[in-house]
Amino acid sequence: MRSRQSLLLLALLAFAGCTLLYLRNQASYGPGVSSPHSPVDETPGRKDAPVTAPTIPSPPRTPASHPVWQLISDAEKDYRAMLGRQSKTLEEAVAEYRRRYGIPPPPNFDKWYDFAKKKNVQLIDEYDSIQHSLNPFWGLKPKTIRARAQEALGFDANNLIGALIRNGAVKKIDGGGEWQMDATVGMMKGFIKYLPDMDLCFNIHDEPRVVVPFDDMTRLMKTAMEVKKPAAKAVVDARNSWSKRPSDLSDGSRFADVRKTRFNVYAHQPTWTESRISCPPDSPARADLEDGPKVDNFASYAVGELGFVSNQTAFSDICQSPSFSETFGFFERPNAFNIVHDLFPVFSQSKISSYSDILYPSPWYWAGKVPYTESDDMPWPQKEDKFWWRGSTTGGFSRDGGWRRQHRQHVVQKVNAGDQAKILVNNGEGNEEHWEVKSVPRSEFKEIMDISFSHVGQCDPGDCDAQREFFDIKKNAKQTEAWSYKYLLDMDGNAFSGRFYAFLKSRSLVYKLAVFREWHNEWLRPWVHFIPLSLRGDEWVEAVRWFAGEPSGKKEAERLALQGREWADKALRNEDLEVWFFRLLLEYGRLIDDDREIIGYTTPSLSTSKSTPAV
Ligand SMILES: *[C@@H]1O[C@H](CO)[C@@H](O)[C@H](O)[C@H]1NC(C)=O
Repeated sequence: MRSRQSLLLLALLAFAGCTLLYLRNQASYGPGVSSPHSPVDETPGRKDAPVTAPTIPSPPRTPASHPVWQLISDAEKDYRAMLGRQSKTLEEAVAEYRRRYGIPPPPNFDKWYDFAKKKNVQLIDEYDSIQHSLNPFWGLKPKTIRARAQEALGFDANNLIGALIRNGAVKKIDGGGEWQMDATVGMMKGFIKYLPDMDLCFNIHDEPRVVVPFDDMTRLMKTAMEVKKPAAKAVVDARNSWSKRPSDLSDGSRFADVRKTRFNVYAHQPTWTESRISCPPDSPARADLEDGPKVDNFASYAVGELGFVSNQTAFSDICQSPSFSETFGFFERPNAFNIVHDLFPVFSQSKISSYSDILYPSPWYWAGKVPYTESDDMPWPQKEDKFWWRGSTTGGFSRDGGWRRQHRQHVVQKVNAGDQAKILVNNGEGNEEHWEVKSVPRSEFKEIMDISFSHVGQCDPGDCDAQREFFDIKKNAKQTEAWSYKYLLDMDGNAFSGRFYAFLKSRSLVYKLAVFREWHNEWLRPWVHFIPLSLRGDEWVEAVRWFAGEPSGKKEAERLALQGREWADKALRNEDLEVWFFRLLLEYGRLIDDDREIIGYTTPSLSTSKSTPAV
């Protein structure tokens, strides 16, 4: 007992020490981080909370090791711990599910578990983003969600694929491109017999569709998390079966005929004002753009003066970054924008953080639209030492010079600019490292930077001409050309970039600039499988230079490239997408079941022990 107490004391002391170190080092980090321009409390009511270290103290960040090195080692530690604690049995998976979400898993969870095991899925427990997508819907009645799906599918111009599932099969599917419908059906084929009857709405646009005002969202979440889910949690012996088809659900032979739509079309118009309405009123994104203060909460996602992305979730949280309104194409003028402000169940392949679309694994990947071709790839040493990207001026539609505010243009312009860039130099003595910021002409890195447009599009004629004049447009590159380079840039276009998986599967190192979120955000780890980049971009040069030029960086570059490849082969197979989709649709099936609070999967051993007190 005594020894346990002293151990606890020791741990506490160590924690306090780490906290102090952490705070001190935060303070010594330089202007970018030491004095956040706009400290933001994410949770209301925490206004006066003192600045404290995160609950799990990260190792002290000191100039004594390179920030990239530190970020990699932190991320890998975290990732390996996650791999190591995955449930090994159905019972463990059920217990872990209950531990995380309070309620039992949905009906047929055992079927899901068997499916996942048979497909040799690596991650059995990491599906938090499904809860994240679906939680607000618990604030609506099942009947309301079903009615909204019918309403959305009943109006032709809503640009949705409708899939009507009846008796364990797709009875009808219509409304989109052949390939997307085929792939969607194909993805469900292996498990559709376990799903209840339901109407599903799949977005055919790349751009997200549902953004709910903050106050409505707050109310929905309150009902969901304080009333509905606790009710489901209180049930001890859940029923492991779906209810029979409710009378409001059609026989699935046709879509309803709806004459009015709640989706409004604003294509080719600025969308910042629409996109931020779900952000907390006191978040930076809600500040009046002209009236200020329009300052990003940079410290929420970046470290060091150069601003390496340390938290990709926070980076892609647009509520923290009002500057995105002027640097990201989707907010300038998206190519398509057809949105609704009430919570509709729309399944989308990617979304902006403030949107409420339900993320699902993209059929684009499943159909292998951008394949990785092993035969064109080569061993690391044969690849050119270059940071490479080719692509078109998508990301938004350009009118009246708007291309200057789009992200791809921002990246290509900045990488090729003639200004000064910041790098880190090691001024330590002997074995001691001491990294300090230094400004150097960007042209010193001309040789390793090969980032150019190869096509101009999505613009009014005058804007297209202007871009052709401004940029040095290179000849069109074949996809396979990418494998000739060690460092590949992958960035958002109109939405997620469909090349990502092919890039990861290659033997090159992938850099990712993504504000759009996808289903895989828990499964792919920044600094473990790819290098995340910010939109601000002061760290871009150093993020390449360290890997291409420093001895330790060179070793890490090849190791990470292969680590990403190995993981992609294990966790981004079509089987993985199917398993994730299966689990999502079981959750969705429960959500729209009138008995959703009393159905669920309970393992026999758990249901008899009754050791968990009801809430
Ligand atoms: C990253 O940011 C998210 C949201 O902004 C936050 O919830 C999370 O705790 C952060 N993660 C870490 C490790 O700090």
